[in-house]
Amino acid sequence: MKVAVYPGSFDPCTNGHLDIITRASGLFEKVVVAVLINEKKHPLFSLEERVDMLKTVTRHLENVEVVAFSGLLADFMRQNNYSIIIKGLRAVSDFEYEFQMALTNRTLFDKIETVFIPSSSEFMFLSSSIVKEVAKYNGDLTPLVPKELVPRIMSRFGY
Ligand code: COA
Repeated sequence: MKVAVYPGSFDPCTNGHLDIITRASGLFEKVVVAVLINEKKHPLFSLEERVDMLKTVTRHLENVEVVAFSGLLADFMRQNNYSIIIKGLRAVSDFEYEFQMALTNRTLFDKIETVFIPSSSEFMFLSSSIVKEVAKYNGDLTPLVPKELVPRIMSRFGY
């Protein structure tokens, strides 16, 4: 079975992430969304909250599973016998970092292939940080995140 792993910190999940998950679910037999801990970031939402938000917004996609994992992505891939990593590319500026990650992951586990999916044009500007910035100032999140997540995110900022 062709399984693709879509890793990220998803703090929180955005419409851009859901776009990549939806398109990947049409390309692969199964998509595993792996919510990983990025040591460089201090998340606003707990791991459990991020997993729960992703499960909520992907519940209509039967071949999508959401899991949490800490440690190296390459170890997660090896332990589960997965070989395909999906990454979304929004702009040329994403490329250098993503290329470095792809080569590092392949060096750590030589069965890994990273497949890049270009972001849909309407989400090219979007990131989890942008969502948090808009929410902090009580801005309208409806164009940025799945509508089920709006109250949860806004309440974290006291609205
Ligand atoms: N639409 C919207 N936003 C997107 C996006 C898309 N298609 N693609 C990426 N983004 C956003 C993310 O939300 C994130 O935004 P933020 O910086 O505001 O939080 C940003 O772009 C970076 O995304 P990404 O590159 O996926 O980073 P991440 O922090 O979400 O996840 C891990 C990175 C978790 C995959 C990576 O750190 C990892 O693999 N960690 C495990 C340890 C490891 O194995 N390291 C590699 C070996 S050194």
